[in-house]
This record gives sequence, C-alpha cells and structure tokens, in this order.
Amino acid sequence: MVDLSINCGGIKSPNPFWLASAPPSNSAYQNCKAFEQGWGGTVWKTIGEPVMNVCNRYGGLDLNGEKLAGINNVELISDRPIETNFKEIAETKRLWSDRAVVVSIMVESKKETWQDIVKRTIDTGADGIELNYGCPHGMSERGMGAAVGQVPEYCKMITEWVTEVSTIPVLVKLTPNITDIRFPGRAAKAANADGISLINTINSIVGIDLDTLKIMPSVAGKSSHGGFAGPAVKPIALHHVSQIAKDPEINLPISGIGGITTWQDAAEFILLGATSVQLCTAVMHYGFRIIEDLVEGLTNWMESKGFTTIEDFRGKAVEQVDDFGNFNLLHKTVARIDQTKCIHCNLCYIACEDGAHQCIDLLPVNAHNETKVREEDCVGCCLCSLVCPVDGCISMVRVDDGSEEKTWNELMAEFKKEGKPLTWENLAEFQKKHGIVIH
Ligand SMILES: Cc1cc2nc3c(=O)[nH]c(=O)nc-3n(C[C@H](O)[C@H](O)[C@H](O)COP(=O)(O)O)c2cc1C
Repeated sequence: MVDLSINCGGIKSPNPFWLASAPPSNSAYQNCKAFEQGWGGTVWKTIGEPVMNVCNRYGGLDLNGEKLAGINNVELISDRPIETNFKEIAETKRLWSDRAVVVSIMVESKKETWQDIVKRTIDTGADGIELNYGCPHGMSERGMGAAVGQVPEYCKMITEWVTEVSTIPVLVKLTPNITDIRFPGRAAKAANADGISLINTINSIVGIDLDTLKIMPSVAGKSSHGGFAGPAVKPIALHHVSQIAKDPEINLPISGIGGITTWQDAAEFILLGATSVQLCTAVMHYGFRIIEDLVEGLTNWMESKGFTTIEDFRGKAVEQVDDFGNFNLLHKTVARIDQTKCIHCNLCYIACEDGAHQCIDLLPVNAHNETKVREEDCVGCCLCSLVCPVDGCISMVRVDDGSEEKTWNELMAEFKKEGKPLTWENLAEFQKKHGIVIH
C-alpha cells in the first residue's frame, strides 16, 4: 500500500503535489476547487504591497505545434486587497484542515513591515509561509523579489526578521537568475529557514511577432524581460534543485518547482531531493484535473518499484551528481543501430557527419542506404541516438569490461607524481594506451 503523504519542513500534506504561488492559487474559490480535486497543498499567490497589473501579461512559447512549452509573464504579486486574501486564506484553511496552506509573502525591505505581515499571516491559521525572493520583474525594480534573492546578505537579513517572529514553518523561495544558487540557499539556512522552494521564473524575452514587430507580451507597444516557466525550464530547475540538495551546508527540505507537468517530472524532482513539488504552468494550461493523473501515476510507479513512501526514493539520484573530475575516463560506449527498426531516414548519419565525429557510414543495400557505425571510430557522444526518431533503434552499448577506472583527478595526480606536465602529448600517450579515439 503506497502512502504519498509528506512532511516538508514541518508542513504536512496528504500528497506531495502543491499549487505553486501563481494565478491558479489566487483565491479561495480556486484553492478550494483544487483541494476538492485532490491537490495536497497550495502556496497562495504572493500577497504584500499594493500593486496594479497590466495587460497583456503573458507570452507563450510554442515548439513544433506544442502550445505553452514555456510561458513568460510580467505579472506582479496579487492585486487583490490584502484583507480579502487574509479572509479567504483563513476560510480555506478552516474548510481544508488536512491540506497544506502556505502563504507566499513579499513586502518592502523594512523589518516592521515584514514582521507585521508574518504575524497577520499566522493569524489566518496557515500552515507555513513562503518568502518570495524570486519575482524577476516589476517587484525587483522596487527592491523586492529577485532583488533580494540575488544578494545572499539581504536574503539572510530578511529571513532572520521573519524567523524571529514566525511560529509556523518558513520556506524561502529562490530565484534562478543568479550564478550560484547555493549562496542564497546557505543564507536561508543561516537565518533558520525551515526549507527552500525553487525555482521561481527565469529572466526572458519570449519572442517577437514578425508581423507587428512587437515583443511579446506587448503592453501598448512596450515590453520587458519577464519570468519564464513551463516544461522548457525543467532541466534548469532540476539542476538548481540538485545544487541545493547536494550542498552539505544547506541540508534543508526542498519544495521543487519548474516545468513539472507529469508524475514522471515530479518523480525526477523527488529523486533529486525534493519533498514536495509545486506546479503552475501545467495547471494554467490543463486545469486542476491533472492531479488525478499525477497521483495515480506516481502511486503506480512507486508500487512497481516497491516504494511505499516518498522517503523511500527521495534524493536517491543526488549522489550521482558529481564533478567532471570524478567521471571515469575509461568508461567506453559505442552506438549500435538495430537495422530491423531503422526507417532509413539517415538523420543519424547527417548528425554524425556534420554535427559530430564522422563515424557512421552510409552503405548502399538493395534499394536504400544502410547506416552503419564504425565502432572503432565512435567516440560514444550519443548524438545519433538522440536524433533517431525510432525508440530503441540506436542504443549506446558499453564496450569496456569495467575492469579499469581512471578519473581526470586521478590522472592529474598520477601525472604530478611522475613529474609529467599536462601536455597534449602526455594525454595522447594515455589515450593510446587505453584505445581512446579522438576525432
Ligand atoms: C503568470 C505567473 C505568475 C506567477 N506569480 C508568482 C507569484 O506571485 N509568486 C511566486 O512566488 N511565483 C510566481 N510565479 C512563479 C511560479 O510560482 C513558479 O515558480 C514558476 O512558474 C515555475 O513553475 P512552473 O514551471 O510549474 O510554471 C508565477 C508564474 C507565472 C507563470
């Protein structure tokens, strides 16, 4: 029997799926409707300073006919009066005591203002607070959002103001618009945060309409960088999550966000250390009903793997994340093409010939050309297997016997011991000894 319930930094929910702080979690109407359909928690659309939004707010990125592969927005925090939000948060929590109601907040950088909104949030009965240090537009120009997340000292200072008075768990939501996300992560930890949420949206310009020459979204002819989200950002989000999960100085529960649409996406975030996962774009695109597939899919997969709780597999992929210097240089794979599956599109040949290392031949066989890998020349880059449109037609096959291992760090230590400088000649000698091909 699978149990999906989680405890993320002291915030409990019956399943790991939370609405991210965004339009779908804007009101009691929406949050209650989401809970009815099975969502485990919500992070209320950020509340705080008085703001006014503009139209148009969103720009979409379509890829090969897929709508909203990414969405870019210049939306601000909630533009509903703060009293209305507080009243609705309290009502929602009263009606749904078993779900996680987290409130995202963001105010100007004054201690009294932060502590005041924290106390008022606690009064609603909410389960937790999320500090929005990530909004990349509009608010950051006013010294809030990403302007805080990008400066670890501010991040620490404001988080300390909050944790000083908060009696409920505090999650810090980080911006990916920074070179090394571990620094604000460490600042959050030093300020006694209970967990970290990431990522918020990525600075972007989503495109230009070639008929009107207007940047999207266009606000009466003006535009700006906006926050990018949706399926296209998932790899970036996974990287940032792994950075936080791997850092021994941080060691805090993670709420993973960024491009999650399916249960498979969610499982990947959990494997990289997330306890809860938050979704925004997928809900904006398909509605709350996706929770059914998320819960059912994750449950079935966990059953098939013999996992009974989220903790059974949480973080299982984290230790694979390592430095290049620790990769085994002697691990050798080559591409093999299953001729019974090949549809002779020749995409692998073209990719290898023009975009990689010229190790696939086109051999005339009967009325078509057959693609054949010259294994002795294949560098094992795997581009051909990535462009091949047929599942399982090109596989990367390991050809070393696993008996030898040498990492770059070990090799450099060996060179040092032997008094060998790092030269192309010395590297070539090592490569030749181990039959490593270079093109
Ligand atoms: C239109 C829109 C509005 C958003 N508003 C907020 C907000 O008020 N507060 C916040 O912390 N994040 C906000 N976000 C960011 C999301 O919470 C989330 O971090 C981001 O969209 C990545 O998740 P996704 O790929 O599932 O959309 C917003 C995102 C979008 C697309």
